Amino acid sequence: MSFRQARYDEPLLWEIGAPAASPSVPTASIPGVPGNLRRRRPLDWPEISELEVIRHFTRLSQMNFGITTSTYPLGSCTMKYNPAVSEQIARRRGAAEVHPYQPEETVQGSLEIIWRLEKGLEKVTGLPAVSLQPAAGAQGEYAALLMVRAYFRDHPELGTRTEVLLPDSAHGTNPASAAMAGYVTKEIASKNGCVDLDALRAAVSERTAAFMLTNPNTGGIFESEIEAIAKAVHGAGGLLYYDGANLNAILGVTSPGRMGFDVAHLNLHKTFATPHGGGGPGAGVLAASAKLEPYLPIPRVVKTGRRFRFEYDRPKSIGKIKTAYGNFGLYLRAYAFLLYHGEEGLKHVSRRAVLNANYAAHELADTLPRPFRPLVKHEFVLSGTPLKARGFRTLDLAKRLLDEGIHAPTVYFPSLVDEALMIELPETESRNDLDRFVAAVKRCVADSPEQLRSAPHSTSVARVDEVRAARELRLSWKDLRTPPSSEPELAAAGAPRPRSSPPGPAPP
Ligand SMILES: Cc1ncc(COP(=O)(O)O)c(C=O)c1O
Repeated sequence: MSFRQARYDEPLLWEIGAPAASPSVPTASIPGVPGNLRRRRPLDWPEISELEVIRHFTRLSQMNFGITTSTYPLGSCTMKYNPAVSEQIARRRGAAEVHPYQPEETVQGSLEIIWRLEKGLEKVTGLPAVSLQPAAGAQGEYAALLMVRAYFRDHPELGTRTEVLLPDSAHGTNPASAAMAGYVTKEIASKNGCVDLDALRAAVSERTAAFMLTNPNTGGIFESEIEAIAKAVHGAGGLLYYDGANLNAILGVTSPGRMGFDVAHLNLHKTFATPHGGGGPGAGVLAASAKLEPYLPIPRVVKTGRRFRFEYDRPKSIGKIKTAYGNFGLYLRAYAFLLYHGEEGLKHVSRRAVLNANYAAHELADTLPRPFRPLVKHEFVLSGTPLKARGFRTLDLAKRLLDEGIHAPTVYFPSLVDEALMIELPETESRNDLDRFVAAVKRCVADSPEQLRSAPHSTSVARVDEVRAARELRLSWKDLRTPPSSEPELAAAGAPRPRSSPPGPAPP
């Protein structure tokens, strides 16, 4: 299949439509709108038909990469397919139109879904209590570390614990969350892609509050020494934190609770039916062992008889960390995903993700070196170091893959691998897609250095000068129709057009 992304010289909506002659929303004539809320000036919107708007956004979408058109081998972030059935359920009026601050008695169904999802995730994590509240993995990490802090504050007999340990393969949000929670971070070296147990044993001490670990780790390798790791951390009086962003590799096969973790965050926006990316709404839910449960954020959703309610009276809780109760739309998607897969189906999801990763890793074995040789879980890491001798780099390979109609894998992470390419082909990729991906990587690697260094060639936007884009950052649209004399300073700063300025002539 040859690939060529659409290229439109697409103007802004403001440039397509003639300036509106009258208010688009004539609030002045709507009965019942109080005088002080009525619009006094026409809205500065263009006059544009519905079809023009649809065509505009459709054209923009065709100039983009998306999971609906391309394979998305982005490692670590677990970009996955969002099943249509989950989307449909999340968009039903009864769910989508609920107001977050409606009285509890009018949202019993929504509360029941939250409660049921929490119970389902308790089973999945093997931990006895779950709160869905955090809006992202990073917020879940931060909240969990606040819980760890509160726990040690309530247990002075365990000493003053100031350190959080992390492997050098940790995702960047882990040390950032630990530092924000007030801890000193200490990196533990890896050996053959896994935690070096001797280094960990030497580092744990009476200062250790927690060890943060992703399992399988960011190299896609299962930390098989997890029981010894748990023993070393617990033996020193510390707690074990599970970064569950890679949970899709072990669903239904093992669990954080079974591995000895005390607290975990999961990313519903990766493992449970909502794609990650673009910073969209997420859910970095928390799961806690019995001793950390009292510290979970409030409110908790509790069931009394047949009624569901929010409970705020939890004196040890770290408090509220998100408006309302978090991102409800994601809970619906995740709950639907749990229901239609069931226990056996979830196992199948992770087995398939692991099979896909191993198949692609095997097929690419002679193409680029794989620094860690054990069997991989759901993702694998290749090194583009040999490419340098031929005059190009991992970045060029990633850009060239766009010309094949394939989104770039994660590059230069984990940082312990030189010229890293981190590849994840989740369970939803078919055998055909995997073969197409493998063939594309092979073709790109064999390509001429000139083609690679100047790629991509088939996309709507060519390679940008990233240094210049960062140095001359412009985040607002400058309306060329504004006569420069009217707002010279704003226009020079690239600021948006002031709402009151009259529309000028169209740009040449
Ligand atoms: C291993 C790992 N941990 C934590 C995170 C942070 O999650 P979020 O992006 O939702 O904050 C990610 C995100 O990609 C991740 O891959």
